[in-house]
Amino acid sequence: MQKGTAAIIGGGVIGGGWAARFVLMGWDVRVFDPDPEAQRKIIEVLANARRSLPGLSDVALPPEGTLRFHDTMSAAVDGADWIQESVPERLALKHKVYQTLQEHCAEGAIIGSSTSGFKPSELQDCATRPAQIIVTHPFNPVYLLPLVELVPTDKNPPELIQRAKDILTGIGMYPLHVRAEIDAHIADRFLEAVWREALWLIKDGIATTTEIDNAIRYGFGLRWAQMGLFETYRIAGGEAGMRHFIEQFGPCLSWPWTKLMDVPELTDDLIDAVAGQSDAQSGMYSIRELERTRDTNLVTILRGLKAQDWGAGKLLNAQDARVAGVPALPDDLTRPIVTVERAVPLDWTDYNGHMNEARYLQAFGDATDRMMLLVGCDADYIATGGSYFTVETHIRHLDEVHAGAVIRVETQVLLGEGKKMHLFHRMYQGDRELATGEHMLVHVSLETRRACDPAPHVAGTLARVASAHTALPRPEGAGKAIGVKG
Ligand SMILES: NC(=O)c1ccc[n+]([C@@H]2O[C@H](COP(=O)([O-])OP(=O)(O)OC[C@H]3O[C@@H](n4cnc5c(N)ncnc54)[C@H](O)[C@@H]3O)[C@@H](O)[C@H]2O)c1
Repeated sequence: MQKGTAAIIGGGVIGGGWAARFVLMGWDVRVFDPDPEAQRKIIEVLANARRSLPGLSDVALPPEGTLRFHDTMSAAVDGADWIQESVPERLALKHKVYQTLQEHCAEGAIIGSSTSGFKPSELQDCATRPAQIIVTHPFNPVYLLPLVELVPTDKNPPELIQRAKDILTGIGMYPLHVRAEIDAHIADRFLEAVWREALWLIKDGIATTTEIDNAIRYGFGLRWAQMGLFETYRIAGGEAGMRHFIEQFGPCLSWPWTKLMDVPELTDDLIDAVAGQSDAQSGMYSIRELERTRDTNLVTILRGLKAQDWGAGKLLNAQDARVAGVPALPDDLTRPIVTVERAVPLDWTDYNGHMNEARYLQAFGDATDRMMLLVGCDADYIATGGSYFTVETHIRHLDEVHAGAVIRVETQVLLGEGKKMHLFHRMYQGDRELATGEHMLVHVSLETRRACDPAPHVAGTLARVASAHTALPRPEGAGKAIGVKG
């Protein structure tokens, strides 16, 4: 994975999220923000991100980069490969910021703007080197949501656009190349349309903030999260598909269903109604509590989509594959083999606030899968009709572990002979032993569903590992049954 130095100019809601994503993806980050509270806020955002982002991945992320705060913009951008501007949405302020930072940053650095609405040509106006500036508009929380709208102009060289895409992909994002610049890019156009309709519904006394949120989160919001608009409507057209859908709902376009271009005036009464209803709906939670709830929910949804290899989940799987590389047996077989290295995901924790006991088995199951893969029992081999089934498991829970912590499973082959594969897994956080898992597996024919010998190349590799591991001391706890003291 490509790593470098990122300068974050403006460390508020969005800049803090960028800082957290870059740091957790191994980049060194330098922040400039004149607000004396910015450091505290970013450290809090980073804590939330540490709890949620690493566990989205099923493989270990690179070691964290460093996070430094600078008193001047010139010190922050000096030597930076990527500069992310996230100052308030005022064009004159953004122009002023570009003037100063272009005096000090490298000519080859990329300057991405988080602007929600300005076109890149507006940002490039009056800049010393317009070719360096593009829009890279993210979504909150930047450390969890993959979308970033990348909007260039014809002043940006193709090489810079490609480099920007590669860097954003490298930090786990999906750069959506917006081919023509328009106000508010693509996604914020939808958000603005829905926002306008919602304000009308409140102003006209049709619905409250809670009722509007329920209409979204219990219904179409769930559809949008996994298929978007057009794929969802294609299904809504039934077997006749999209053409039928348009025939059926096309006439509504001329009915008074929407007040899109008719904007309600933001009177004091309307603001009081929206803010008051929102207080009644969510005022019992602090913003930090709401952020944590949002992050836990997002992680749960995203990991569900990962299991389906669909939508944003498919992006995350592709990122895992890039980070993990091709699995291979280590050259040195005289030590146990690292079969799992990952952070504990938020959705693996329970009411006690620590990793649920079932997830210990999941981590050991993943370690077993990896061991099978390393000895040659991979997808191609399984397609030929052979596999291993687990017939017995014994887990000892030795210590607790929390969301975001990096766990490592080391596997020792106790026996790899004939139909049998006897594994002993040890789970650690750093040097702290968390659990052991002892598993007996039997090789089976997927046709007869009965035990049989593995193919020679699988048997041979497994025997080689088992033979090397016989030199290791027998692990403490191996062969143990549940002990009753007293
Ligand atoms: N909030 C969102 O949901 C969202 C989403 C996507 C994009 N954006 C865009 O991101 C940008 C920042 O928005 P935000 O919501 O993070 O705002 P914010 O008010 O939370 O943060 C802005 C930060 O910029 C700092 N700042 C002000 N002047 C500065 C200067 N001269 N140099 C460096 N820092 C300076 C402020 O102290 C503040 O911490 C805007 O362009 C906005 O359109 C916001």
